[in-house]
Formats: sequence, C-alpha cells, structure tokens
Amino acid sequence: MSAPGSAPIGIDSIAISVPRGYVELAELAAARGVPPDKYEKGLLVTRMAIAAADDDPVTLAANAARRALATSARRADEIGYCVVGTETAVDHSKPVASYLHGLLGLPPRCRVFEAKHACFGATAGLLGATEWLASGAGRGRAALVVATDIARYELGSAGEPTQGAGAVAMVIAERPRLVELEVGHSGSYARDVHDFWRPLHRKEALVDGKFSVQCYLDALAGAYAAWRETVPAGAPLARSLYHVPYGKMAVKAHRQRRILDGLDEAAADATFAGEVGASLRFSMEIGNIYTGSLYLALASLLDAEGGALEGRRIGMFSYGSGCGAEFFAGRVVPGAGAVAAGMKLGAPLAEGARRKLSIPEYEAIRRAEEALAPGAPGVAALAENGSVRFRGVDAAERRQYLAVP
Ligand code: CAA
Repeated sequence: MSAPGSAPIGIDSIAISVPRGYVELAELAAARGVPPDKYEKGLLVTRMAIAAADDDPVTLAANAARRALATSARRADEIGYCVVGTETAVDHSKPVASYLHGLLGLPPRCRVFEAKHACFGATAGLLGATEWLASGAGRGRAALVVATDIARYELGSAGEPTQGAGAVAMVIAERPRLVELEVGHSGSYARDVHDFWRPLHRKEALVDGKFSVQCYLDALAGAYAAWRETVPAGAPLARSLYHVPYGKMAVKAHRQRRILDGLDEAAADATFAGEVGASLRFSMEIGNIYTGSLYLALASLLDAEGGALEGRRIGMFSYGSGCGAEFFAGRVVPGAGAVAAGMKLGAPLAEGARRKLSIPEYEAIRRAEEALAPGAPGVAALAENGSVRFRGVDAAERRQYLAVP
C-alpha cells in the first residue's frame, strides 16, 4: 500500500466479451435496399454483434469481467470498488454491478454501483475509480470497471446499421501493467440536449441522428479545449481513441481534433490511418457497444500496437448523449506489449468463436425479444464452458443466471 498520490494508477488488465452471433452489414444493406457502400464506406461499418435470448448486459459484463480478472495481476478478493457503466440497465433499481458482485464472488467490503450517462457511464466509473485509488481510500485494493450494452434502434431505421452488443471490463490498480492514466487532468464538457434518448418504457433508442453527430463534435471541441487548458504540457499524443458509434464518426472526430491542433483538413485526414486506424479493428467486427466503445478502441489498439506504443502517450475522448464528455490521456507502460499479447484480447472475435446470422435469423431474434414480457417463462440457457448465461425471470420477476465455472 502506498501513500495517496505516490503510485501510478491505471489499467492493469482489459478484456472484451461479445454475443456469439453477428450480422454482415453488406447483407443488411441488401435486405434494406441500401447501396452496400453507404454502410461500408459512408458509415465505415462491417459487422454488428447481435445479442441472443440468453445474452443480456449482465452476462456480457460477467463474461468480460471473468477474463479481465483471470488476466490481471490482482485477484477478485482484492476488488474494493465495482462499477458498471450501462445505457441498457436490466432493472430500474437493482444495478448490473450487484449481479456482477454475486456472479464473480467479490468481497462484501466493496463499493458496488451502476453509472448511467448514455455512452459516458463507464468513463464516469473509470474516473471515479482512479480518484478513489488516488485518494488512498483503496488501501492497496483494486477497482473493477465494466462497460456493457446492447445497442438497439428500430428495424429499418437510419440507426439500425449502427447497432452492436458487447462489454469491456478493466481492472484499475496502482502500478498498472498496461496504461497509466493522468489522474486529475481531464477536460469536461456538458450541455442539456436531446440528441439520443430512450424513455424508460422503450427498448429501442430514439435519436436525432444528424444533430447527435453535431453534438458529439461540439462536445469534443469543448472537452479538448478544456483538457488543453488544464493539462500540463506533455509529450504529443501518439494515438487518439474516440467513442465509436460507427467508424466514420471517428474519422470526423479526429479531423476536428487535428484541425484544432492547427492542421488543415487534408493534413488532419492524412494522420487518421496512423493515429486512429488500429483502434477501430474490434469495433468494425462488433458495432456500437455504447459505453464500452471507447474501451473497445483501447483494447483494439493494445492488441495491435501495444509493444510499439510502450512509453508513448495516448488521448481518449468519451462522449455520452444528453450530453456529457471528457478528454483525458494516459501512457502505455513499458512491458505492456507482452502483457497485452498474453491477454489474447481478440480471442472472442476469432474464427469459429462466433456465427454469422442471416437477416431473417436476426429479425426473428428481435421479434422474440419484443414478445418476452417480464414474468414470461425463462429462456433455455446453453451451458457453455466458462460462461455466464441469462436463464429468464422467475415468478417474482427476479432475473436468473447460469454461471458455468
Ligand atoms: N456510398 C458511399 N457513401 C455514402 C453513400 C454511398 N452510396 N450513401 C451515403 N453515403 C454517406 C453519406 O455521404 C454520409 O457520409 P458523411 O457523413 O461523410 O457525409 C454517410 O454515408 C451517412 O449517410 P447520411 O448522411 O445519409 O446519413 P443517414 O441518414 O444514414 O444517418 C446517422 C447516419 C445519422 C449516423 C444514423 O446512422 C444514425 O442516426 N445513427 C445513430 C446515432 C449515432 O450514432 N450518432 C453518433 C453521434 S451520438 C453518439 O455517438 C452516441 C451514441 O453512441 C449513439
């Protein structure tokens, strides 16, 4: 245990989880009568993960957290802070984090809660966790931060190709092995807008699409300006990670950020492939996972370039509709390349780990979800080695899970 403020704080391990089904966006384009280039080049999306009846935000979170703990230098009984960021909570009262606490066997002396602010929730949780550690309240323990979501828009809507599902879990600790975060140095931005919202009774989000893009860019300008004013001068950012609802949004974001740095548009765009490209690989396979999307970009970057980036500084931009945003930075720790390689961050996306769904299969899943009212008979959970599955709800509407060791 160190005195407050004396040890570096950051990300010790990171892991992702995804449902086992996905849709090819080229097939969705054909089914919707849209030119495939609109999705593949206009939006820069390739595939989107689709949650099945026995996946939910709890199972996705638990499966990612199990992996993050298995590959962390810290044990489950050392976790003293467990926060889940989600836009797709399963209950108005009981947090996903409580289910996680039980499924993972975390200690009773633990601060457990859920953080909601659209796609920003996990960032609020992460920044809170770093400040908890920096204050000394952790007393040598570690924090578990999990982002989990199932992004749903109406079938046939403009938002449909920007769906996805998945979770990212991170163990946050002193002397982290992956990324040291610059605790206490971040730029915030907030504004009351209706760019994307989901009333309590709705499963699908409502969105003012074009306005949401503008709100995102305004928030980036505001948070980045605030970050530059408050952060001490440091090394240039070798890479930039963004909230990625779809790949093209990251292109627009990076262009704006580099123009704010003084580049013209062409020069700004010329930096995109090198400074952002590697961070989009996972999201091109998964789609938007709302609050986990920035951290999916981080996992993708560490998987592709962890070794090359050791000692280098990376910038991170988190955006939550409604809206709130934060820009902050961290440094890839020496040795992180080998640590990240050992974590096999892309394993859940490997050939054979997932199955392509036809468009009729995807639509049938969505129709079944609509029919699954609370109190309906439980869905059959597939017992699969090492995974947690949703089994349905019991007569008192309590959610039931099957956790295979
Ligand atoms: N070939 C190549 N490109 C094509 C094309 C074709 N045949 N047809 C269209 N395009 C291009 C367009 O030129 C456009 O490119 P630019 O943005 O570079 O101009 C792009 O494809 C999108 O086409 P449209 O402008 O016609 O837009 P759309 O009606 O399809 O809507 C959208 C796009 C607003 C992003 C919509 O998908 C949407 O509402 N998505 C959900 C909301 C969202 O993700 N917002 C992002 C900011 S908010 C946020 O980040 C929080 C969050 O996670 C939701």
